[in-house]
Parts: sequence; C-alpha cells; structure tokens
Amino acid sequence: MSKNILITGANGQLGNEMRLLGTNSSDNYIYTDIAELDITNLDDIRSIVSAKKVDIIVNCAAYTNVDKAEDDIETAELINNRAVENLALAAKEFGAVLIHISTDYVFNGEGCIPLTENLPIDPLGVYGRTKSYGEKSIEATNCNYIIIRTSWLYSEFGGNFVKTMLHLTAERDLLNVVFDQVGTPTYARDLAGVVVNIVENDKYIGNNGVYHYSNEGVCSWYDFAHEIADLGGNRCDIQPCHSDQFPSKVKRPHYSVLDKTKIKQTFELSIPYWKESLKICIQNLKK
Ligand SMILES: NC(=O)c1ccc[n+]([C@@H]2O[C@H](COP(=O)([O-])OP(=O)(O)OC[C@H]3O[C@@H](n4cnc5c(N)ncnc54)[C@H](OP(=O)(O)O)[C@@H]3O)[C@@H](O)[C@H]2O)c1
Repeated sequence: MSKNILITGANGQLGNEMRLLGTNSSDNYIYTDIAELDITNLDDIRSIVSAKKVDIIVNCAAYTNVDKAEDDIETAELINNRAVENLALAAKEFGAVLIHISTDYVFNGEGCIPLTENLPIDPLGVYGRTKSYGEKSIEATNCNYIIIRTSWLYSEFGGNFVKTMLHLTAERDLLNVVFDQVGTPTYARDLAGVVVNIVENDKYIGNNGVYHYSNEGVCSWYDFAHEIADLGGNRCDIQPCHSDQFPSKVKRPHYSVLDKTKIKQTFELSIPYWKESLKICIQNLKK
C-alpha cells in the first residue's frame, strides 16, 4: 500500500535531494519548508499529519549554521531541539514514524577510531549541543524513530564546501585548507537514497534507534579540497594548514569519522566511496 511521507525542510540540501528521489515513487511525498510548515509550531504539525494521514515524517529541517549558532542560541535550540520534539510528539500521537537527521558534531572528535553510535556524546558548540538535545527529545517521546547522524554534507543544492572550493580553486592561485580535521564527506543524494530505501521497503519497522551514515573512506578537508579542484579541472596550489589559522568562535571536532557498520548491517546497504560520489556531484554541477 502506498504511504504518505511528509518531508520538512524540503528546500535545503537534503530536502532537495529527497524531492528528486521522491518524484518517481509510488508513495505520496508531501514536501514542505518553513513557508508551508514551520516545525516550531506543534499545532500546524498536528494539522498536516492528521489531514494528510502521514505515515512517515522525514525531518530535513534544521538550524545548520554552525558559526552563527554560537550567537543565536535561542533559535538554534528552538529549531534543532524544541521543533524536533514537536515532530516526535506528533509522530507519537498519530502513530507515524519519525526519520530525523543528526550530526557528527554531537561528538568531541578527540579520538582516532571511527565513531560508533553508542559512544558518549560531548558536543563542542551550540550547534552540536542543540542537535544532541533534539536526539534526546525524540527518544523521550517514545515515538517510533530512526535518527541518522551524518557528516560533511554536500549536494548540488544550497551552499556547501564543494561549491565553495570549486569557486575558490577556479579564482585563486593559492589556497590554504585545514588538514587537522579528519572525517568523511557525504553526498546528500546518497543519504536521500538511504532514507527512500528504508521508507519504501518498510525497513524502519522494528529498527528504532540511532545510526551513522556518511560515504566510505576518510579524508581531511585539505584532501577533500584537492579532489574537488582536480575533478573541477582547476589548477590551484592547495596547501595544508592548521585549524588555528582560521580563528573561529566554534571548536570543531578533529576526528569525526563515523563507523557505518550498524546501518549497513541493519538495512543491508552498500555505501559508495566518497571520491566516486563527489565525481557524480561535480558532473551534475557541470551540466
Ligand atoms: N550541512 C552539513 O554539513 C551537515 C552535516 C551533518 C549533519 N547535517 C544535518 O543534516 C540535515 C540536513 O542538512 P542540510 O545541509 O540539508 O540543511 P539545510 O540545507 O540548511 O536545510 C535546512 C532547511 O530547513 C529549513 N528550516 C529552517 N527552520 C525551519 C523551520 N522552523 N521549519 C521548517 N523548515 C525550516 C531551512 O530554511 P532556511 O534556509 O530558510 O533557514 C532549510 O531550507 C540537518 O539535520 C543537519 O543538521 C548537516
């Protein structure tokens, strides 16, 4: 039977990728962003979930500006925690499943071994802290949920590191990029594909919990920038530098490689290598 799937934050990077993948689905996708559904308003969520008989809510909405969050704690808390609790309460009330996206920034990044889901969280800044509260709020409502923590998200849509680096490496002869922050990029289309796979095949049933997802492999932002420039055909001298060369209010995790064993085993996924996915994204951007 076809399902009704509510997408929130559908104008963002992940939301737009969900729009693309949902187009040919036999399920009924309802795309909303803040103009159609402000997730800080519980009554509005209740109305749409009830009226559209929503089976699954996929929350792509968030406050994602990591630097700005340090000065705008209230808004970050409202969108990344209270609004997420609203979605979970509505899911519980109307028997829907909540699929929510979280972040590697819930960890402090002090280790050097890929991060599993059960490790203690210890966010370094407001963004990570409010996202971690959002996770806890979902769990406290006792709704059916899947939380997917991801890292270094990019896509053809919106602003992101890939688009910035394509631009800068085309414009400049020399660029310094940090090599002391290590993680794994995630092509939002791959993550959207995982969500669609879970939804369409009813794989959420009996699988409540937290999962980690990124592309395969490991790199620093320096390596990532190098690959972007190469694939973009840009000749720019990229030099590795330390994070303290770019003073920021926010401390960022040094090591945030996510261990994806659980999501691969539970949902029987194979995950593309980060360079392969980056190639596809850059090819799409060139079209
Ligand atoms: N970007 C990353 O590198 C990264 C890394 C790890 C995890 N994540 C997580 O991945 C998820 C998707 O990220 P993304 O990069 O796709 O985010 P994004 O591009 O910033 O999109 C978020 C969308 O949510 C909308 N939104 C904000 N407040 C809202 C509200 N009250 N009601 C409804 N919609 C609202 C935003 O609208 P406005 O643009 O108008 O505010 C935007 O369209 C998020 O949960 C994020 O925390 C992202």
